[in-house]
Amino acid sequence: MEEKIIDESKQGESLVLEGKSSNTRKLYIESYGCQMNFSDSEIVASILNDQGYNTTQVLEEADLVLVNTCSIRDKAEQTVRKRLEKYNAVKKINPKMKVGVLGCMAERLKSKFLEEEKIVDMVVGPDAYKDLPNLLQEVEEGRDAVNVILSKDETYGDISPVRLGGNGVTAFVSITRGCDNMCTFCVVPFTRGRERSRDPQSIIEEVNDLAKKGYKEITLLGQNVDSYLWYGGGLKKDFKNATEIQKATATNFAQLLEMVATAQPKMRIRFSTSNPQDMTEDVLYTMAKFENICNYIHLPVQSGSTRILKEMNRQHTREEYLQLIDKIREIIPDCAISQDMISGFPTETEEDHQDTLSLMEYVKYDFGFMFMYSERPGTMAARKLEDDIPEEIKKRRLAEIIDLQQTHSGYRTKQFIGKTVEILIEKESKKSDAEWSGRTPQNTVAVFPKEHYKVGDFVMVRIDDCTSTTLLGKAIGYSEN
Ligand code: SAH
Ligand code: F3S
Repeated sequence: MEEKIIDESKQGESLVLEGKSSNTRKLYIESYGCQMNFSDSEIVASILNDQGYNTTQVLEEADLVLVNTCSIRDKAEQTVRKRLEKYNAVKKINPKMKVGVLGCMAERLKSKFLEEEKIVDMVVGPDAYKDLPNLLQEVEEGRDAVNVILSKDETYGDISPVRLGGNGVTAFVSITRGCDNMCTFCVVPFTRGRERSRDPQSIIEEVNDLAKKGYKEITLLGQNVDSYLWYGGGLKKDFKNATEIQKATATNFAQLLEMVATAQPKMRIRFSTSNPQDMTEDVLYTMAKFENICNYIHLPVQSGSTRILKEMNRQHTREEYLQLIDKIREIIPDCAISQDMISGFPTETEEDHQDTLSLMEYVKYDFGFMFMYSERPGTMAARKLEDDIPEEIKKRRLAEIIDLQQTHSGYRTKQFIGKTVEILIEKESKKSDAEWSGRTPQNTVAVFPKEHYKVGDFVMVRIDDCTSTTLLGKAIGYSEN
């Protein structure tokens, strides 16, 4: 059974945009991993757009190839290594091509990358993209270039990202960077640095600009959006040293959500990812209050066993997580909830695994992203715990988790049959060019005949049937909202 990857359909997609017509150089940029990487690539393309680069989808004609990388699991890193082999082959026909590695692998491996992979000319960590013009200059002068310095305050809030390869309807807006949680399995705090939030004003401006350009839905992005806290800039952990005025005027996530929802009442607002320990009731009440905030929460839990959660340094027990689930159901009865789950974390027993399955049984998640534990060098788990669960057991437990999730997804989609739901049309259905594909506020995909509707329309769709993941229906008119 394959692991699931977030944004599976987009992994490795090369992205293009309309650039400046005066630009003569060609940039090929590819992204792997989480939504944040896709969003960062848009910032990078914007920076390079001002340096004479327009994007191309043809690798062979690129002057500069950038790969935005993911370190979350070993497999993600292997995928990138394979791509580097491909670039190597292309460089034989196009010797002037330069190759840069961005993102989490760049941060993790630093200048080691230059030694390990001869093809690489430039290594740039997630907080160093503004240095790209200087780094490129060095590369052009024949030197390898590295900048992997992590920052206390970089949020790229002043850069207006170009929108790469999107549908013109949905967009990501990043609101925090880094993570302070230190889950013991996770490499992100090491590769993306400490947590810091972006100025709400610049967030609102970006959202307003997207609305003006015709976008209909935005997703506020962060490793841990619920811990968003703006008090004038700086690290989240330094908030305790803020002045009384900064403390009194700080903006938290519930307030930011309200600001965004009020600024653009016709736009759908989503957010990801929520960390259970940081999600407040205020956020839930804000979601309930605003029609345009989608009733969907991605709420990774990783395990259903309190003992394993403790080993993972997750800051909640199984019971606390379930209380939060009850709260969500009470305040937002039709809220969809999804999970991330890890099978085979060190010391996980059969009983712990059963706890995971029973927690899933209780929640009946709408969706899930499920993975086998992959030991990451330098993390607390790698240093303190032996990766002692055999591969076959990890695989079998993962298969059981995925199977159960499929049952629950099927159960959730069936609840929609006979109902009429609002769908935002995003694109043509993969299976048929006669049908549109879009999502409910709960994030469930629906397909239906195109008729006279078009991409970007909000339509009411009567759901007649479903598969385990997709709703099938017929549009009955435009949405009133
Ligand atoms: N807060 C982040 C989490 C990023 S990692 C967010 O924005 O989603 C995404 C998921 O990858 C985690 O929730 C976890 O389920 C999984 N993951 C992280 N490290 C892992 C590891 N070492 N092995 C397996 N899965 C891992
Ligand atoms: Fe990783 Fe845990 Fe942060 S999963 S991104 S350390 S919340």
